[in-house]
Amino acid sequence: MTASSTATLSFSDGSPSIEFPVLKGTVGPDVVDIKTLYGKTGKFTYDPGFMSTAACRSAITYIDGDKGELLYRGYPIEQIATNCDYLETCYLLLNGEMPNAAQKDAFVSNVSHHTMVHEQMQFFLRGFRRDAHPMAILTGMVGALSAFYHDTLDINNAEHRHIAAIRLIAKMPTLVSMAYKYSAGQPMIYPKNDLSYTANFMRMMFATPCEEYQVNDVLVRALDRIFILHADHEQNASTSTVRLCGSSGTNPYAAIAAGVACLWGPAHGGANEAALSMLLDIQKNGGVEKIGEFITAVKDKNSNVRLMGFGHRVYKNYDPRAKLMRETCYEVLGELGLQNDPLFKLAMELEKIALSDEYFVSRKLYPNVDFYSGIVQRALGIPTSLFTAIFALARTVGWIAQLNEMLADPDQKIGRPRQLFTGATARDVMPLHQR
Ligand code: CMC
Repeated sequence: MTASSTATLSFSDGSPSIEFPVLKGTVGPDVVDIKTLYGKTGKFTYDPGFMSTAACRSAITYIDGDKGELLYRGYPIEQIATNCDYLETCYLLLNGEMPNAAQKDAFVSNVSHHTMVHEQMQFFLRGFRRDAHPMAILTGMVGALSAFYHDTLDINNAEHRHIAAIRLIAKMPTLVSMAYKYSAGQPMIYPKNDLSYTANFMRMMFATPCEEYQVNDVLVRALDRIFILHADHEQNASTSTVRLCGSSGTNPYAAIAAGVACLWGPAHGGANEAALSMLLDIQKNGGVEKIGEFITAVKDKNSNVRLMGFGHRVYKNYDPRAKLMRETCYEVLGELGLQNDPLFKLAMELEKIALSDEYFVSRKLYPNVDFYSGIVQRALGIPTSLFTAIFALARTVGWIAQLNEMLADPDQKIGRPRQLFTGATARDVMPLHQR
């Protein structure tokens, strides 16, 4: 990160102009370093939604929204999704480089040996209602890990951070499957460490004590790809939440639980559930014939209807993850003999119509990863209510990598945004009988 030039800020009220360094990253927009602005002028900047604000420096994930490009540590997502598995991706995100064969074996073995959760967590789980949303359970269970693993709570200790990272990556599949089994009224299935990360998760989801799960390589690969595509995504809302939460020095489990809670929202991780519900609704109300009516409602500003799975704060082009997900959709539906799945056909038709409609074209609204991931997950037998929990499982590694990067940054400070205050100025409290 180098200062390449300066930017001058001038004021129309006669205050003196000030110069700020303009920083250059390795790629992407330059950044005006304004951290001395308040000290020099007594003024803040105003940027709700962080539309123009780089809140940190990072070397993990890069998105070029105009090109529709996504890089993990410099590697294009298409190459990673085609050549690597999820645990290799985790290693890359955490360590900055691809593992060699020995490093991969050691990492896989390490993760595999941390898949069980403390037995007492089952009793904690039983405190939830059976109809609790899996994300409510997951938020609680991830936070509760801090009550069970006291030896890894010091966020300033590199060894604690390393073990917490391995534990979180290893235990998320177990926690997500526990949440699912609990809602289905079935006993939990313990992890089986000779299976791959993703095959083990599918077995914990779909086996029962009386029936073993038959691993299908095409389906395992499809879910593994979903994990890879969701592993990290720069400074999105949940990642920024994890960074802000972790900036106070809280323990890693609490910081990741904050990320899970943020991810739950329908504008973020909840969108895949919302996208599938939208498709099911259109199908129920007349299917392809009714797409025109639906699009009209989406374009009506008073309707509050959005085309879920479309649009993105950063991508102003086709989300590269959506392309890969559509490819996976074909593979899974082919493997399961569902090539004529009406929901997939409906999604493709909806995409075609939206991509040629002036409303979407002029706003650069393209399908995002969630548009097709719901169809794939549904075909794999994953219930809709679990989609966001699957996203959380996959994103855990990104949250940890970003948290650890922040903690290692010498510029790190507790996050403390300022405000443009618009409320009442100082006034006196009247005694109750005079109000
Ligand atoms: N359907 C209809 N109109 C839309 C949509 C949509 N999905 N997304 C944006 N717009 C319109 C919006 O109404 C606005 O129009 P106008 O300029 O006339 O007021 C314009 O496009 C810009 O929208 P915005 O809400 O200011 O854009 P944003 O960057 O704040 O929002 C978004 C990004 C993802 C929240 C939004 O596109 C959205 O709500 N999409 C649907 C939900 C969704 O699929 N979310 C998943 C995101 S990808 C997963 C992840 O990375 O978390």
